[in-house]
Amino acid sequence: MTDLFSKFDPLIEQRETLLATGLTDPFNLVMEKVESPTVAICNGKRTILLGTYNYMGMTFDPDVVAAGKKALDEFGSGTTGSRVLNGTYVGHRAVEDALREFYAMDHAMVFSTGYQANLGVISTIAGKEDYIVLDIDSHASIYDGCALGNAQIVPFRHNDIDALEKRLKRIPEGAGKLVVLEGVYSMLGDIAPLKEMVAVSKANGAMVLVDEAHSMGFIGENGRGVAEAEGIIDDVDFIIGTFSKSVGTVGGFCVSNHPKFEILRLVCRPYVFTASLPPSVVATAATSIRKLMDGADKRAHLWENSKRLHAGLRQLGFTLGTDEPQSAIIAVIMPDLETGAAMWEALLKEGLYVNLARPPATPAGKTLLRCSLCAEHTTDQVGEILAMFGAAGRATGCI
Ligand SMILES: Cc1ncc(COP(=O)(O)O)c(C=O)c1O
Repeated sequence: MTDLFSKFDPLIEQRETLLATGLTDPFNLVMEKVESPTVAICNGKRTILLGTYNYMGMTFDPDVVAAGKKALDEFGSGTTGSRVLNGTYVGHRAVEDALREFYAMDHAMVFSTGYQANLGVISTIAGKEDYIVLDIDSHASIYDGCALGNAQIVPFRHNDIDALEKRLKRIPEGAGKLVVLEGVYSMLGDIAPLKEMVAVSKANGAMVLVDEAHSMGFIGENGRGVAEAEGIIDDVDFIIGTFSKSVGTVGGFCVSNHPKFEILRLVCRPYVFTASLPPSVVATAATSIRKLMDGADKRAHLWENSKRLHAGLRQLGFTLGTDEPQSAIIAVIMPDLETGAAMWEALLKEGLYVNLARPPATPAGKTLLRCSLCAEHTTDQVGEILAMFGAAGRATGCI
């Protein structure tokens, strides 16, 4: 018998070598208590959270929590069914209404996760005969959506407008074309030149899907994302998003003005063949989305936090993923995995949690300490964070 697990041996060995040095496992942290969007207890210690996707800090919003509790009492703990059978409650309709209003679009379809939203929409609209042109740094759920639909995948260099245009021009005349982009790329925290890319895509007869997972709620005047900030949201055919970041719960969605969009509810397998979200989740999401419509002050404070942290880390001597802060994510580039893991552990001991990211999830084989800011981080907390980076950086020889 061939052990089907033998393909994982190199990874098992790399992990064992790292842990043999005595380092804490960076991928096995337990939050013993979560006190707020920005503070948790980890290993018995008060820890500032700088590695969540809770950009707008909605997880403890009193109205959001109350809506979830009320729905739990009134509708029970789960739907036990698909959206197309017994799994559509008034709450599912209400959260789709909230999304339509939030994006000012005609259609909204909610999935059980953002991963499934990409998987479902991409695989359903682009099949074997169609071409998907996508940024090489696209999220795993985008690649998996392309694979599930069996489309021809044409990747292009990250954020390279000319490369996108060249790939599009090489596709046979008359073929179906979908360009897939992200507003914010979550590893380095950089944004896409959507204005130019959408124009090039349209000029070459392609439909465009933009994943705004990391920009919803924060970027753009109304928090609709990078497409809104760059003034081209009406030219985007499909926007994908998630409830697991700024919305503060779990779930995924697609919004669109396409006149035939609703047919997806009958043909999209990751929508049809899975249970719908629990009533408490859709109730928290709807309340959160409606509050994000009035989130201008929070957005302004989050930008301040992002700028302050970026400038401070740079001043301490760290190498960052972007020259200027472009989103709520600031990536600190580490020389290698060992140093990255040591720095991650030193920060945790100081009382700071960040995300350690390493290949293959990261671009160009980089090891990163990814910091994601929250609108609920106070200015004092950002000061504390910088002091902890300074201490950990000196202790590990990173700076
Ligand atoms: C760009 C992007 N798209 C989609 C997803 C999937 O979102 P979810 O957590 O809702 O499955 C993520 C999650 O990290 C993401 O970064």
